[in-house]
Amino acid sequence: MYDQKTYIKRREQLKEKVKSGFLFFLGNVDSPMNYSDNIFPFRQDSTFLYYFGLDHPGFAAIIDIDENKEMIFGKDFSVDDIVWTGPQKATAQLAKSIGINNTAPLSKLDEIIKAAISSDRKVHFLAQYRAENKIKLSELLGINPSLINNYSSHELTTAVISQRSIKSKEEVEDIEKAVNVSYDMYTLAMRVAKPGMYEREIAGLVEGIVLSAGGRLSFPTILSVHGETLHNHYHTNKMKKGDIFVMDSGAEVSNCYASDITRTIPVSGSFSSMQKDIYQIVLKAQVSSIKAIKPEVSYKKIHLKAAKIITQGLKDLGLMKGNVNDAVANGAHAMFFPHGLGHMIGLDVHDMENLGENLVGYEKNVVRSNQFGLAYLRLARELKPGFVLTVEPGIYFIPQLIDKWRDEKINSRFINFNKVNKYRKFGGIRIEDDVLVTKSSHKILGKPIPKTVKEVEEHCSL
Ligand code: GLY
Ligand code: MN
Repeated sequence: MYDQKTYIKRREQLKEKVKSGFLFFLGNVDSPMNYSDNIFPFRQDSTFLYYFGLDHPGFAAIIDIDENKEMIFGKDFSVDDIVWTGPQKATAQLAKSIGINNTAPLSKLDEIIKAAISSDRKVHFLAQYRAENKIKLSELLGINPSLINNYSSHELTTAVISQRSIKSKEEVEDIEKAVNVSYDMYTLAMRVAKPGMYEREIAGLVEGIVLSAGGRLSFPTILSVHGETLHNHYHTNKMKKGDIFVMDSGAEVSNCYASDITRTIPVSGSFSSMQKDIYQIVLKAQVSSIKAIKPEVSYKKIHLKAAKIITQGLKDLGLMKGNVNDAVANGAHAMFFPHGLGHMIGLDVHDMENLGENLVGYEKNVVRSNQFGLAYLRLARELKPGFVLTVEPGIYFIPQLIDKWRDEKINSRFINFNKVNKYRKFGGIRIEDDVLVTKSSHKILGKPIPKTVKEVEEHCSL
């Protein structure tokens, strides 16, 4: 937890942005895995953490800007509870630690919200993603749970997004701590991978690093020789000599700030020349994209530049053909690079995605494309100092997609399907780092993780 001044300042800034109104925040509750007492590991809501810092289940808060009042709602533990949980701090003590003096039991929430509604005040709340909280809000506000997000507050949402988008020094330090744990995860994976191992053995070892560092994964690890499946959480393949595997993983070890890193690693320690050729194209797209990062540059432009580098590289290898600009304008590269270049990262690995992907990643004059590939670009807006984002281009050979495009002659004037066919079993390559936009440039966060062919192969041989 940060010093209470941090939370006080964040709430002051929020009040200045929203100006007036009754703001209501729900923290997360424990969620049962298979019966009530056997719960999923607790993860607090990120916005609740941002303004109130309390990393415990079952809290709620209000900020009444007009009455200049802040209040925390929670449950005080009885001795019978403490028999199971051990000693717990009282709600008043926790609230004090974040600079709030008013507290009430959760049972009072209903009364206070109803009093606000009956005096015709709008209750501002954020869109909900957990069933428990949708039901709670539904009970408090009398709105059908499936419709609750239609009533979320646009003013509050945009104020929270604008504030959380700009990371402070202490937040950047926490992201760097997470990336440094990623360094240990990746260098371990490079050292231990060998033919005959199952993917799950490496997935288990890297998760162990995060647990030993006192954290948890920021999302379920993607680790597979079938790297062409973008979010591949299946870890049961046996890895063979000559295979490469995509490992896309992240940690949160300090105040719940995330890392999100990807490397592609040769199982037997060195890349084949075919693999190296594709690797170098992805690396060039990744390094050039990072170099282009600075304030006021549009991330959509950087994404399209990466797409052009990928198209040119594939053209040089004979996999694509025709004019590079035309190919990218028609989305032909997306058969190989079907996702966006990156996204914001912070307390969430896809930061604030629960508040609305377009509100986070797009702005008034930047409309989301519906072209295959470009449609998946999560961040398209102009960059600002303090943004932290991922840069993660990739090249993939997805047999089902290749067959569909060939059969339906999609972008056939830009793709040499005969040549592509030779890569059907290639898999995929992705390379990802987490980058801070600084006042005039950028900074790659954390200890540099082996990335060039030479660096990766050297680490594999340790
Ligand atoms: N790391 C997975 C993703 O960005 O979607
Ligand atoms: Mn990512």
